[in-house]
Amino acid sequence: MQEFKGKVAVVTGGASGIGLGMCRAFAARGMKLVIADLDKEALAKALAEFDAAKVEAVGMPCDVSQLEQVEALAELATSNFNAVHVMCNNAGVGIPTSARNMKLADWKWIIDVDLWGPIYGVNVFLPLIEAQGEGHINATSSMAGLIAAQMMGAYNVAKHGVVALMASTERELRAKKSNVRASVLCPGPINTNISRHSVEFRPGKSKPKADGASAGKLASNIQAALEQGMQPNEVGELVANSIAEEKFWMLTHPRWVKGVQNQVDAMRDDQLLTRA
Ligand SMILES: NC(=O)c1ccc[n+]([C@@H]2O[C@H](COP(=O)([O-])OP(=O)(O)OC[C@H]3O[C@@H](n4cnc5c(N)ncnc54)[C@H](O)[C@@H]3O)[C@@H](O)[C@H]2O)c1
Repeated sequence: MQEFKGKVAVVTGGASGIGLGMCRAFAARGMKLVIADLDKEALAKALAEFDAAKVEAVGMPCDVSQLEQVEALAELATSNFNAVHVMCNNAGVGIPTSARNMKLADWKWIIDVDLWGPIYGVNVFLPLIEAQGEGHINATSSMAGLIAAQMMGAYNVAKHGVVALMASTERELRAKKSNVRASVLCPGPINTNISRHSVEFRPGKSKPKADGASAGKLASNIQAALEQGMQPNEVGELVANSIAEEKFWMLTHPRWVKGVQNQVDAMRDDQLLTRA
């Protein structure tokens, strides 16, 4: 999609972090915004920011793991702006727990939000974008969607699923020579509040099963990496520019693809998961 001005972008998890960065980048290119977020206060703050900047923006509290709420979001977009051109399935949560010890309730929550959210998003919004004859559908995965590191059990599974969802969608769109493109954002560490939000939103908020001292150390290492990570507004610019250039892979830390290459080399040469 080359021309952004006057077009409509929908962003889930758009009231904070990467999603808010995307909204700012789209607004700077003259787009109208439809913002969805579970966090009502953050949503009101984001809408006030765009109102003050005279950006046409609407929003609603929306849990992306609930199909009827994603359908209501589409209704909000079409009733206000009569079209959707860009849709970013970005809302996500994660907690650092091993695949073995993760509670089933946590598996369900993370897969529901991080994978079913984008599945509902593609199901509901892709037909609306296709009706415009051009546009773009994106989802936020992670480097955890390309390499399954330890202690991120459900998150890895969901984020690998998101890569597969968007790759299938892009291949199918290209096969039918559509002018609509699909893409996936795979960020490395970005300086957002995802850790705090994930603790706040975790259903039941019971104590996660203990993974031992190494899990605690890993969690603090992840937190330190996030705090030193890229700024979310920079990621928003990357996404907007990548949409204009019709890129499929949106990578904030492309050098980290070396880890993917190492895994592919080990698969081909030794059929081991990774090189010793
Ligand atoms: N921060 C990172 O380093 C990083 C790295 C890789 C991938 N990601 C992914 O980026 C995306 C955005 O995360 P972020 O880092 O900006 O975190 P964030 O917590 O700042 O933003 C995520 C937003 O999603 C919202 N949200 C959470 N659950 C929701 C639900 N069920 N329905 C609707 N909204 C919901 C939150 O309220 C929040 O506003 C996520 O998919 C995350 O997995 C983040």
